[in-house]
Amino acid sequence: MVPRILSTGRYIPERCVSNDELSARLDTSDEWIFSHTGIKTRYLAADNETTSSLALRAAQAALERAGKAPGEVDLILVATGSPDYPGFPSCASIVQEQLGCSQAAAMDVVAACSGFVYAVETARSFLVSGAARLVLVIGSEVFSRILDWSDRATCILFGDGAGAVLLGTDEGLPPNGDFRRSLLMSDGSGAETLTSRQAHSPYLFMNGRRVYNFAIKIVPELVGKILSENGLALDDLRWIVPHQANARIIESTAKGLGIPLNRFYMNIARYANTSGASIPIALDEMNEKGLLKRGDWVLLVGFGAGLTAGVNLFRW
Ligand code: COA
Repeated sequence: MVPRILSTGRYIPERCVSNDELSARLDTSDEWIFSHTGIKTRYLAADNETTSSLALRAAQAALERAGKAPGEVDLILVATGSPDYPGFPSCASIVQEQLGCSQAAAMDVVAACSGFVYAVETARSFLVSGAARLVLVIGSEVFSRILDWSDRATCILFGDGAGAVLLGTDEGLPPNGDFRRSLLMSDGSGAETLTSRQAHSPYLFMNGRRVYNFAIKIVPELVGKILSENGLALDDLRWIVPHQANARIIESTAKGLGIPLNRFYMNIARYANTSGASIPIALDEMNEKGLLKRGDWVLLVGFGAGLTAGVNLFRW
């Protein structure tokens, strides 16, 4: 059983908010935001949109592109830290019904900005074991609903959006299909570093400096480890697709590893940090632009609240 990504999709809400628009009502500036994060704009969900409605649109795009019917899907995983309902039901269950995936099991994966890489490894394991033949993995977030829009230290960082990939093991796959076992980690001693709400407030809390330091340490470690476990060198990687949290984190990682920055895909300037959705949105853009060629080694890198991190390694 060789799992591979069969197709991708994304959905971005219409409303685009620039740094200048935020600066008009907050004590911040385009210059500060761009120089500290690399962000220029972000998209925000409309009042009638939800995490599951964004997820649905991204999943529909992925299914259509693969020419698959909803009834063929065995499992739906939604990586999200901003679900429609805190607790339950899962966004995945709502998507399952609305998409018409009558045969699919459904659950959310809660690992914040690492959620998508955790969900991809879950999908890979189901496919390899034969427990599923077709899995929809979706990352979807509406962080705009959990942000304090008067807190300049956090609200400037995030945006809303959704991305999806369809993973399968269909016959007729090219022989170069190759999906390696992922590396996933968690350090719960940092649980209070980044929380979706606080005891005394309904809004997200973040110790930005601590998250930053965690990311620039853990990412090179995981990249080095998965490459050595698989007998690959940095030069073998065509693309590293990192979680888009901060351009400075990506630049520091590139420098630390000695890899040219142009092998890291970056779109944070446009979308800001869409948490669990950032990697599948990036993959869909890359796919659309024809940047992903059959046989290319691709590494997905997630990190964030938990604290958690993980990497998925595969050939496109
Ligand atoms: N505009 C203007 N000034 C701002 C500001 C804003 N939007 N946000 C913070 N500041 C100010 C602070 O008040 C502080 O002022 P002071 O020195 O007078 O107290 C100063 O800028 C420096 O703040 P600090 O928080 O130390 O900045 P930083 O260099 O650590 O950058 C982040 C802040 C958030 C950009 C950075 O820590 C970061 O990117 N961390 C990772 C966050 C992240 O990726 N989270 C999601 C993980 S998945």
